[in-house]
Amino acid sequence: MRVGVVGVGGWGKNHLRVLKELEALASFCDVDEEKVRLYSRKYGVNGYTSMEEMLRDERLDAVVIATPTRTHFGLAKRALEKGLHTFVEKPFTGSYELGKKLVSLADERGVILGVGYIERFNPAVRRLKEIVESEVLGRPLLLQFRRENRLPVRIKDVGIILDTSVHDIDTARWLLGEEPREVYARAGGINGRFEEFAAIILNYEGIKTAFITSNWITPKKVRKLVAVFTGGVVDLDFITQEVVIEREGETVIPRMAKEEPLALELRHFLDCVEEGVEPINSGRDCLNTTLIAEIALKSAKEDLPMKVDLKSLGRVGEP
Ligand SMILES: NC(=O)c1ccc[n+]([C@@H]2O[C@H](COP(=O)([O-])OP(=O)(O)OC[C@H]3O[C@@H](n4cnc5c(N)ncnc54)[C@H](O)[C@@H]3O)[C@@H](O)[C@H]2O)c1
Repeated sequence: MRVGVVGVGGWGKNHLRVLKELEALASFCDVDEEKVRLYSRKYGVNGYTSMEEMLRDERLDAVVIATPTRTHFGLAKRALEKGLHTFVEKPFTGSYELGKKLVSLADERGVILGVGYIERFNPAVRRLKEIVESEVLGRPLLLQFRRENRLPVRIKDVGIILDTSVHDIDTARWLLGEEPREVYARAGGINGRFEEFAAIILNYEGIKTAFITSNWITPKKVRKLVAVFTGGVVDLDFITQEVVIEREGETVIPRMAKEEPLALELRHFLDCVEEGVEPINSGRDCLNTTLIAEIALKSAKEDLPMKVDLKSLGRVGEP
């Protein structure tokens, strides 16, 4: 498999490292010449200053797009038009309508389209999904997410809902395997053009609720989830990958091997390309994550809860 990485900044450089480890790194590009020099030397592959040049000169099977969000649509469209399997970093295109266009284009060309919702590959989240599906703790009632860190200087094109809360919106969809019926959000900012903190409530059928809080103010990295079930509570740390299960009279901390979610995610993408099947984080599936984020932005702007009907896109997470 020959993969080219587009954008090798804060996150894209991890794609370079992992694809090299998976023996799938063919080349990369970045508009920043300094980075092109640095990483072509480091990984011994050709680097380019534009995707066009890379696509012209390299024989690739797939590309990974890890540039700023607002550039995702144009770059992914070009790659799909060239018939390349395409992995687009979260939050996909940042627009439901543009995302839909990419999904149709991938279908037309018969290629795989994946989206970087990496928490679906976090071993701790996978463990929690098993708990949900096996019903060992009964029915899920509440998912309480906290994702906090000081403002990342490099994010200049979207606010915290599209950049950060989307991880938890997607994880809630993935864990519960269903779509919310109502979205209500409050959001605000202190410094910038975009919102820097947000509280989003996703109301599901019955009483099931996801409560997603994100801020770019807390001066340390926090990424946690408390899942409340009818028969117990699970505390999950996305960073340490620790899961603590509490129920009447016992606390259980399962021993689990820590694994790099990005390596699991890219391995899955490459396997799906080889087998010609949709990844669990396909463009089609992840469209609704973008749609829910857009509805949350609208809800925050209008200060109103929004009823939604997202059932038509099918079961979450099914290929
Ligand atoms: N899945 C995750 O956990 C995760 C984590 C961090 C970031 N991301 C996503 O990855 C993407 C990149 O984020 P980042 O933090 O690395 O940003 P960044 O600003 O650090 O890096 C972006 C890079 O893209 C380059 N670039 C910009 N336009 C380009 C173009 N047209 N062609 C080629 N290169 C171009 C820039 O020079 C820069 O090196 C975003 O979509 C972000 O949401 C995902």
